[in-house]
Amino acid sequence: MDDWFTRERIDEDTDVLSEYRHWEETHCYLLRGRERSLLIDTGLGICDIRQAVDRLTDRPVAAVATHIHWDHIGGHRYFPEFYAHEAELNWLSGGFPLSVEAVRAMMADNKFGASGSTVVIEECMVGPEVTVLAFCDGKHLVPMLSSQDHKRAYDGNQGPNTGGMGAFCPSPKYTPEIAERCMKEIFLPTVAAMKAEGRPFKGVIYFGLMLTQDGPKVVEYNARFGDPECQAVLFLLETDLLDIFLACRNGTLDHLNIRWKDGAACCLVLASGGYPGSYAKGLPITGLEDAGQQAVVFHAGTKLGDDGTVFTNGGRVLGVTATGPDLNAAIDSAYAATGHIHFQDMHFRTDIGRV
Ligand code: GLY
Repeated sequence: MDDWFTRERIDEDTDVLSEYRHWEETHCYLLRGRERSLLIDTGLGICDIRQAVDRLTDRPVAAVATHIHWDHIGGHRYFPEFYAHEAELNWLSGGFPLSVEAVRAMMADNKFGASGSTVVIEECMVGPEVTVLAFCDGKHLVPMLSSQDHKRAYDGNQGPNTGGMGAFCPSPKYTPEIAERCMKEIFLPTVAAMKAEGRPFKGVIYFGLMLTQDGPKVVEYNARFGDPECQAVLFLLETDLLDIFLACRNGTLDHLNIRWKDGAACCLVLASGGYPGSYAKGLPITGLEDAGQQAVVFHAGTKLGDDGTVFTNGGRVLGVTATGPDLNAAIDSAYAATGHIHFQDMHFRTDIGRV
C-alpha cells in the first residue's frame, strides 16, 4: 500500500464514498464507488491494465479509461478535480447523462461487442467545429472551402450524435487568419509526417477541427470526403474534379489552380424517424421531382421499387442541397425544396446553418 496515494471522502450531495488511488508504477488511478470503480490509465507507464486492476481493487471495475495524458491531470499526484467532478456526478451518483448511458450500452449491454470493452476519455475541446477537406498528392495539399456539419440529431444541437444532419459551406467561423494557422500548424505538418513515415498520402484528407480559445485543434482525421459536408462543398467547386484527381495521382497539384464559385451551399439531411437509434425501412417517399426543381436531392438510404417508387432504406435517407448568393439564401432554398418531400416519420433539423 505504500506506493499508493489514497484519499477518501463522503460527498455531501451524493452521499457516495469515492476513493482515489494512484499506483505510481503504472500511473493508473482508481476512482472507487460503493459498487463500481473506474480505472484511469494515464498512458504514461507501461500499464498492464489487468495487473493494475488486481493491484488497486478487489471490486469489479466497471470501466477503464485510457489515454488520459499527464498534462491533463496537472502533473501532480492528486486525482484531477475535473475527472473527479465528472465521475462523481455522472458515474457514481446514479445520475446517468448521455456519456454514462453510452458506457452502459457498451460495457453492460455489450452493444458493440469486444470493441466496446474500453472507454477512451479524451480532452474536452470547446468551440465551433469546422471541417476542412483537402486534396493531397503526397507532397502538396490544397484545402477545399471550409464547411460545418451538425452532428446532433435534434434542433439546438440536442440529442444523440449522428453521422451528420446537415452542412453548409463556407464556414464564416473559418477566417483567413485561422486558415493560415491551420495550414502552418496542422495541414502541412500532417502531410510532411506521412511522407516522412514512408506513407505519402494521395487523396482527400478530412480535417475535423475544433476552433478553441487556444487556437484550432484536430478532433479527427479521415481519409475520405465528409458526409454531408461533401454535398455542400463540391457544389461550389468550379474546377473539373477529374482534373484534380489526376493531379493528386500524378503529384502535380502544385500546377493546378483550383477555382471555387462565389456564394454558399447548404445540405439538409432527411432522416428516418428514430435515427440514429432503430428506425423503419421501406416507407414510400413522395415529392422528389418537385424538390429536384429547386435543389439537388442526393440519395443516401433509399431503394427503388419495381414500379419506380422510391422507398426509405436507411437512417439518413436523403441529402437536399441548394446554393445561393449567400448562406441565408442557400439555407432558405434547401428548406423550400425539402418542403415538397414526404415520408412517414421523416425527421430533419430546422436550424441547419442557424445555430
Ligand atoms: N460528417 C462527419 C463525417 O463525415 O465524418
